Amino acid sequence: MKKTNVEKANIDWGNLPFGYVKTDFNIRYYYKNGKWSEGEITSDENILMHMAAPCLHYGQEAFEGLKAFETVDGRIVVFRPDENARRLQRSCDRIFIPQISVEMFVDAVKRVVAANAKFVPPYGTGASLYIRPLVIGMGARVGLGPADEYLFIMFATPVGPYYKGGFKPVRALVVEEFDRAAPLGVGDCKVGGNYAAGLRGSEFGHEKNYPIVLYLDPKEKRYIDEFSTSNFIGIKGNSYISPNSTSILPSITNKSLGVIAEDFGIQVERRQVDIAEVESFEEVGAVGTAAVITPVCAITYRNKEFTFGSPDNAGPVITRLYERLTKIQAGEFEDRHRWLVEVEV
Ligand code: COI
Repeated sequence: MKKTNVEKANIDWGNLPFGYVKTDFNIRYYYKNGKWSEGEITSDENILMHMAAPCLHYGQEAFEGLKAFETVDGRIVVFRPDENARRLQRSCDRIFIPQISVEMFVDAVKRVVAANAKFVPPYGTGASLYIRPLVIGMGARVGLGPADEYLFIMFATPVGPYYKGGFKPVRALVVEEFDRAAPLGVGDCKVGGNYAAGLRGSEFGHEKNYPIVLYLDPKEKRYIDEFSTSNFIGIKGNSYISPNSTSILPSITNKSLGVIAEDFGIQVERRQVDIAEVESFEEVGAVGTAAVITPVCAITYRNKEFTFGSPDNAGPVITRLYERLTKIQAGEFEDRHRWLVEVEV
């Protein structure tokens, strides 16, 4: 357990949006002739690449998102980086990108966080250091096929809450006009194309004043899939209910909250969730690394609005889950599941 004595950057930590703030360093690995290079730390924010790179034409790219925190006792920790490493491996496998080992990924996380330690928001500010790993197909190629060369890059930027106001309820709209994923497509992988496919649906919601939209399963348009940015959870009685679907991203936050819910004696159900069931939920949340848990106070479906508790405050179960998760991340509650990985600075 080591307290850091790093002097922090001059940033208004309490008012950070979820945006890009320049930090000092990123780390890069190049894949050529069948192997990854040693990671090199650079302060260059730009990437030089060939205009025929497959990531640009055929979307051969996968990414991740995870966070580092300063704890109450002054340590720097990262939340479950091994889980992100494994999810990236699944994404890479699906779109033919060579594997990145868990060790290489976690080492890159530690190095990029240590190099940017002064940008890890101080304990108690509610902000965090968001880490964005991405891997892209490089080199010149015009015919459809996987790239011969790749770049794996990881940058970090301090962020505040994804949705304005932080842990404040938002209203959601069910979008049926557009899908973000296909039933056996890549909806369960963290690849850029899913997010591009979701932009039109998100804009459709924004135009009607909904900060977040909810997608149904693309085959039957009957079961809840996920929000534009995050997974869906519903609370009913003593149950934590979250959809299982082949077209949603396996959220690490959702997985962790399920464990916390079980710690609380709440029953966790991962199953199909018919949109007709939505009216029976007492609380709803959007969960993900960026969104953490964003309480959802209303869902509009086919011109009918279903409400969940107060529009001003999150419900009791979601509040309890949020507090336990954020306390674990801040080192204020025992890390009994060993989710935190310490970064030596
Ligand atoms: C994350 O939660 O880390 C994501 O990548 C979602 C993105 C929309 C910010």
